[in-house]
Amino acid sequence: MRVTIRAAKPSDIKEYTSLLQRTYESAYTNDSLGLTKECFSQEVFNTADTQKYLLSNLVNNSSRKAWLAFIESQMVGSVTIKKKDNNYEITGFYVTSEYQGRGIGKQLWNKAFEFSSKGDILVDLYVHNKKSVAMYKKWGFVIDKTRGENGYFYRHWQEWPDNLKAKCMYMRLIRSKD
Ligand SMILES: CC(C)(COP(=O)(O)OP(=O)(O)OC[C@H]1O[C@@H](n2cnc3c(N)ncnc32)[C@H](O)[C@@H]1OP(=O)(O)O)[C@@H](O)C(=O)NCCC(=O)NCCS
Repeated sequence: MRVTIRAAKPSDIKEYTSLLQRTYESAYTNDSLGLTKECFSQEVFNTADTQKYLLSNLVNNSSRKAWLAFIESQMVGSVTIKKKDNNYEITGFYVTSEYQGRGIGKQLWNKAFEFSSKGDILVDLYVHNKKSVAMYKKWGFVIDKTRGENGYFYRHWQEWPDNLKAKCMYMRLIRSKD
């Protein structure tokens, strides 16, 4: 399996949207929490505000980088890292479910990590995403009690039913500043 990784471009938006939509749907749907497949539907991913957010993840400049992973011509993974004050934040870290667990995420992570040089690395994720919580813990991240309420907050997308909120957590990889 030959994986290639290259910098993302705004023109990748269509395939990127599809990659994230499918991966969110399979990773985050949880009927008992009210997070139905409709919360992560193609329609939701194609609204103007979601497209604006997704496009912002594909920008490369001195303070933010985005990479995409491909197998032949198929986009299978993504990661974005951006500078936030003196730290870095990871967003849009996804590998399509068929290819998870084969080291593609780690390759993307290594790119992001190399770019980050100094400063902590921040991430937020759904609490019910236990597999990724375990992965970040394995990589040395801890719950970031300095953010939210003791490290936790509730996420609501404007496309979701009004009263639907999903519990999320902030995590942080603490690194020395020198
Ligand atoms: C998170 C994600 C991007 C990782 O990509 P991947 O290709 O599956 O990851 P890899 O195969 O490279 O494995 C990454 C690491 O996670 C570890 N891992 C995987 N499942 C794990 C689990 N249940 N518990 C602990 N560690 C786990 C692997 O051992 C590996 O660690 P190592 O390489 O340091 O030994 C991918 O699984 C994904 O898209 N998940 C759903 C969406 C998501 O949660 N994204 C992150 C949002 S913040």
